[in-house]
Amino acid sequence: MKIVIRLLTLSVFTGFLFTACEGPVGPAGNDGLNGKDGLNGLDGKDANGSCVKCHNTANWQAKEDQYHLSKHYLGTSSSRNTKYCARCHTNEGFQEITSQGKFVVTNGIPNATRITCATCHTMTAFDFSGDTAAMILRTTSPVPLNYRKNAETTDFGKINNLCSTCHQIRGATSVNYTDSLGKVQPFDQLPFFPFVAGQDDQAPVKYQVGQSFSVHDGNQSNLFAGINGYEYAGQTYTRTWKHSANKCTDCHMNDYSATTKTGGHSLIVNEDACAACHGSDKLTPVQALIDAKRIELAELLLTRKVFKKTTNSSGVVSYGAVQSHDFYGTLFPTTQSTTKYATALANGNTVNPATGLVVYGNTVTMAADKDFALRIGREWKYGELGAAYNYGYINSELSKGVHNPVYALALLQKSIDWLKAN
Ligand code: HEC
Ligand code: HEC
Ligand code: HEC
Ligand code: HEC
Ligand code: HEC
Ligand code: HEC
Repeated sequence: MKIVIRLLTLSVFTGFLFTACEGPVGPAGNDGLNGKDGLNGLDGKDANGSCVKCHNTANWQAKEDQYHLSKHYLGTSSSRNTKYCARCHTNEGFQEITSQGKFVVTNGIPNATRITCATCHTMTAFDFSGDTAAMILRTTSPVPLNYRKNAETTDFGKINNLCSTCHQIRGATSVNYTDSLGKVQPFDQLPFFPFVAGQDDQAPVKYQVGQSFSVHDGNQSNLFAGINGYEYAGQTYTRTWKHSANKCTDCHMNDYSATTKTGGHSLIVNEDACAACHGSDKLTPVQALIDAKRIELAELLLTRKVFKKTTNSSGVVSYGAVQSHDFYGTLFPTTQSTTKYATALANGNTVNPATGLVVYGNTVTMAADKDFALRIGREWKYGELGAAYNYGYINSELSKGVHNPVYALALLQKSIDWLKAN
């Protein structure tokens, strides 16, 4: 309550400052006495020195204009409001999980809005002699990783923790399924993780229908920190590179360029600003090298029927993992058969008409298997699962390895080496 009143008082105060005065300028008066805060008797702050630095019309307008160039603002996926998406894709969802320390929001949020200023920002203190970033950002705390769902947190560094709360591996996307007998059962989408330290690469593992080891698009934080890839036993991995000590914002909020409309709150890297140190294009060679390794790995996985390859109507090639086992853990045959298998998990989510909330439920589909020619016909090895996971880790990270060329290359190369040797 105290904080609310104080905020309101300050809003009125700053609001007054923002309104330009009309009329002729009078002679300068004497400085007033320092005000006392009526609530706790502390000195008030000199708003002109302290607040107006940020809170001035030109600065606010510039931030708005830049932000309107960002995918956060323009993107099609911002404002996905269902239970398993809202935490990263909506303003309300992010505020809920950060204020209450949760992994997912309690319910879908039908009226949720897209990511905006107040998603990342809130004023938490007004004495700007200390850590300014922490005072204006909603969170700078170490991040409980969503896909691990445990108390352990990872510290990506102050401002990076804000970005990494969303830019991380996604985690579960559903809860219940209805089995072939009509019974509703719980299920977890990432049963293979977290990786166990000292995992045996040769140990068998079933990749079943309905299970997923997908990383999702937002994995930038893990690659940048050089962590949470699948690491083979006995191998050492270098986690740092030249830019490891940088913040996400050093590149994604670097100087704004009105010409290229990049930098600042657009969150798009202003690559011209890199030229201060890099005479030549650093990105293209790194991205080409890593992308070639990514495809080399995918082709190896394709050869041993861990992956399949699809080419869409516009000629875009993609690779995807092929399940070895059906939903109930029965091995798929590699030849045609009339036996029915639990081949798929049909999306049975419905929307409650009264509340507008999604009710989760998937239904197991029983059918003859059409993909027999693509099946491996045995359990995977953990080393194969790891290689497939590392492919996804790089593929869905979207920077093509720029966020840590050293770790990205090691993950891909060591996966390739293991597959060739095993
Ligand atoms: C380093 C930049 C910066 C400084 C300095 C700063 N603010 Fe803010 N302030 C912000 C940002 C960013 C927001 C969030 C805008 C939003 O949510 O739309 C904000 C929001 C606010 C709000 C709205 C309430 C809230 O929590 O969202 C108030 C009130 C406020 N500031 C008052 C002040 C006062 C008073 C001072 C000086 C003591 C001050 N600010 C100094 C950046 C700053
Ligand atoms: C509330 C969750 C959330 C936070 C916090 C967040 N992001 Fe994002 N970010 C997203 C989502 C969701 C998208 C995809 C938006 C879309 O495509 O609709 C995205 C997209 C992006 C993109 C895509 C490129 C573009 O044009 O914008 C960049 C870069 C980015 N974020 C950087 C950052 C940085 C840097 C930070 C920290 C300062 C940050 N994000 C904080 C959720 C978040
Ligand atoms: C842990 C945070 C997180 C969760 C949970 C999450 N996402 Fe995302 N998602 C992101 C981030 C971050 C991006 C942006 C990556 C980028 O564009 O660089 C993104 C991007 C996407 C994109 C691609 C956006 C584009 O414009 O191309 C889609 C589609 C998407 N998410 C769907 C979903 C759905 C559906 C769910 C819920 C089942 C979900 N996401 C849950 C963080 C998350
Ligand atoms: C994706 C997260 C994110 C969003 C969304 C966002 N900001 Fe920021 N903003 C930041 C970060 C990070 C900083 C830098 C903090 C630091 O370096 O101390 C910052 C800094 C600022 C500052 C202080 C620095 C300066 O140059 O004045 C202001 C003011 C500000 N933001 C206003 C806004 C406004 C207005 C919006 C909405 C139009 C907005 N921000 C949206 C992350 C965000
Ligand atoms: C050394 C500079 C640098 C740092 C530090 C950095 N990035 Fe990037 N980031 C890039 C570059 C360069 C790209 C690729 C841009 C391109 O391909 O156009 C990129 C791409 C991205 C993308 C995909 C953009 C898209 O259009 O889909 C996201 C999201 C992103 N970064 C988020 C982050 C986050 C979150 C952090 C901090 C954990 C971070 N970045 C740290 C330079 C950086
Ligand atoms: C303060 C100087 C400095 C700035 C500014 C800078 N870099 Fe770098 N960067 C380096 C140094 C030094 C290296 C390591 C030596 C090398 O590869 O040139 C490096 C290496 C890299 C690498 C790895 C290159 C490789 O071949 O492995 C990438 C990628 C990169 N920088 C991207 C960026 C991007 C993107 C920006 C702009 C957002 C940027 N850098 C801005 C100093 C800088």
